[in-house]
Amino acid sequence: MCGIVGYTGKKAAAPILINGLKRLEYRGYDSAGLAVTSPDGIFVEKAKGKVSELVNKLAEHGEDSPFHDSSSGIAHTRWATHGPPTTENAHPHASDRIALVHNGIIENYKALKANLVSQGYKFLSQTDTEVLALLVDSYYEGDILQAVTTALKDVEGTYGIACMSQDEPGVLIVARRGSPIVLGVGDGETIVASDASAIIKHTRQAIYLDDNDIAKIQGGDIDIMSLDSGIVSREASEIDWSPDAAEKGGYEHYMLKEIYEQPDAIENTIRGRMDMERGTAMLGGLGLSPRDMADLNRLVIVGCGTSLNAGLVGEFATEDFAGICAEVEQAAEFRYRNPIINSKDLVLAISQSGETADTLAAVREATDKGALVAGLVNVVGSTIARETGRGVYLHAGPEISVASTKAFTCQVATLLMVALKFARSRRMSVVNGRTFVQEIKNLPNLVKQVLAKEQQIAEVAERYVKYEKMFFIGRGYMYPVAMEGALKLKEISYIHAEGYHAAELKHGPIALLEESMPVVALALKGPGKEKTIGNIKECSARDARVLGIITEGDEEAKSEVDDFIEIPECRLHAAVVPATVALQLFAYHVARLRGCAIDQPRNLAKSVTVE
Ligand code: F6R
Repeated sequence: MCGIVGYTGKKAAAPILINGLKRLEYRGYDSAGLAVTSPDGIFVEKAKGKVSELVNKLAEHGEDSPFHDSSSGIAHTRWATHGPPTTENAHPHASDRIALVHNGIIENYKALKANLVSQGYKFLSQTDTEVLALLVDSYYEGDILQAVTTALKDVEGTYGIACMSQDEPGVLIVARRGSPIVLGVGDGETIVASDASAIIKHTRQAIYLDDNDIAKIQGGDIDIMSLDSGIVSREASEIDWSPDAAEKGGYEHYMLKEIYEQPDAIENTIRGRMDMERGTAMLGGLGLSPRDMADLNRLVIVGCGTSLNAGLVGEFATEDFAGICAEVEQAAEFRYRNPIINSKDLVLAISQSGETADTLAAVREATDKGALVAGLVNVVGSTIARETGRGVYLHAGPEISVASTKAFTCQVATLLMVALKFARSRRMSVVNGRTFVQEIKNLPNLVKQVLAKEQQIAEVAERYVKYEKMFFIGRGYMYPVAMEGALKLKEISYIHAEGYHAAELKHGPIALLEESMPVVALALKGPGKEKTIGNIKECSARDARVLGIITEGDEEAKSEVDDFIEIPECRLHAAVVPATVALQLFAYHVARLRGCAIDQPRNLAKSVTVE
C-alpha cells in the first residue's frame, strides 16, 4: 500500500528516488521520506503530507549536501498502519548506521520491540518498521546482508523492504514476503521499487522477487538468495507497457484518463481471445480444455471492492448462460469461514493489482483445499498471478487512479468470456455463441457512445453535488452496477452512497428516503425493468429526486425520473459495461465539483496489502 524506491548506480540518487515516489504516490500518500549514503554517514529527510512536501524540505539542503550527489539511496511514500501520519512515523527509519523502508506489517513487533528496549534501544516512532530497522541494527557486525538475513528470521508478518548501511555505501539489501519488490535492471545501475511504474522510465527489464527472496545489489550487480535455500536465479522479464501509459497525458486526473482509456483497454483484453467461427472464447492461460470445463461443477469467484463487484457479474453470467453453479464471495470471508471446496471447483481470484492480501490468502486457502485456482489479474508478474499459475491477464495497462475504473470494465469483459467458454462447453449453441462473441466485441463501441455524453453527464452531476447521501438501486445485472456506482461515488466524493438491490429497498432502507436522499436507479430495458420502475415510483412518492440510468429513447422510463443518462440499447449482461462507465463519469464530476482530491482520496490506498 505504501511505495518503496531504491537506487544504486552512478547517477545522483535523489532525483531518481523522488521521481519514483511521485509515480508511487497513488499507493499511499500521507508522508514521505528519503535516505542516502555518503562517506559521512546516512542522511535522512522526511515530511508529513505529499511527496512535494519532501521535495521542499530537500531543497533547503545546500548544493553540496549528500542529498545532491549521493549515488545510492532508498525512499518511501507511506499509507499509515501503525501510528498516525507524522514526520516521526514516516520512513526511512534509521539508527546511526542503518536505514530501512518497509511495506507490510510486522505482526510480532511488540515482542521484538520489548527485547530491543531491554538491550537499550530507544524508539522515536510508533511504527513496526522502526522495530525492524533497529532489529537489523542489533545484528549488524559490518555485513548488512547478514544482519538483514538474521533479522528477517525473527520476523512474523509481511514485508517488502529496502535497507542500507553507512559502512557499505552503494549496497542495497531488498527482501520480500507478501509485499512486492521489483528490480529494474539498468546499465551499471539498479532501480528497486514496490511497483514497476517507478522503474519504467529507466528500464523495461524487470526482475520480480519471490516470497522469502533477499537480494544484495550494488550498481548493476544483483545477487538473489532465498532465505530458505541459498542462491536462486530469477529471470528478468520485459515490462510490456510504455512510460506514457503511466502519465496523465493531458487529462486533469488519472481517473478521467483511465475512464477514457476503456475502449482501448477492453480491446486489449479481448484481442486474440474471440473465436467468431466457433462462437467461443480462447483463454489459453486458464489451461482448461472444453472437456476440463465440462467436468467442473462450480465456479467460485473471490475478490474485494471493485473486483468483488465485477465478480457478481461473473456469477450471474455464468449461471445465466452456462447453467453451472457460480458463487461470488468476499475474499477475506472466504478465507476465514472454512468454505466447502473440492477438486471439481474452479476458484477464480479477481484482482487488479494481484497483491490484495485478502484475495491472496483466499487463493492459498483454495489451493490448500484442492480446488483448481486461477487468477484474473491486471498486473503482470504480481503475486496472485504467479501463485495461481493459471488465469487470464486483463492487459488493461497500468491503473494509477486509486478509484478503479478500467480494471472493472476489463474484468467484466473477461468474466463474460469465461461465462461464454463455460457455456459453449455445455448447452450453448454455436449460433448463440456467435451472438455472445459479437456482444463482447461491441463493448468498446458501447463505451465510446457513453464517453461522448460526458458533457451531459457533467451537467446532471451539477444537480447532485449538494447532497450528502445517495442510494443506488438495480436488479439482476444492474445490481452489481449499483454497488459499483455507489462505491465510486463514496470513495472520491465522500458522499455517503449505498448500493442496494432495488427489491431490498422496501425491507428497511426506504425508511431513509426523503427530499435530501436522491436515488440513482438503473432501469434499463430488459428483465426487471418494470419492477424497477415500480421502485422508482416509490422513491418519488417519498420526495426523493431520481436519476435514471435508462435505455436510449425509452420515453416511458424518462417520464418516471427527474434526470436521466441514456445508455445504448443492448442485452443487460453487456449493458453492465456502458452503465458503469456512465456512473464513473457521474462520480468523477460530482467529486470534481465538490473540489475533492480525486486521484488521492483520503484514507485510501491503491493496493491493500494488509488484512
Ligand atoms: C475501488 C477500488 C478497490 C479495489 C480493491 C481490490 O475503486 O479500487 O475497492 O477494487 O481494493 O483491489 P484489487 O483489485 O487490486 O485486488
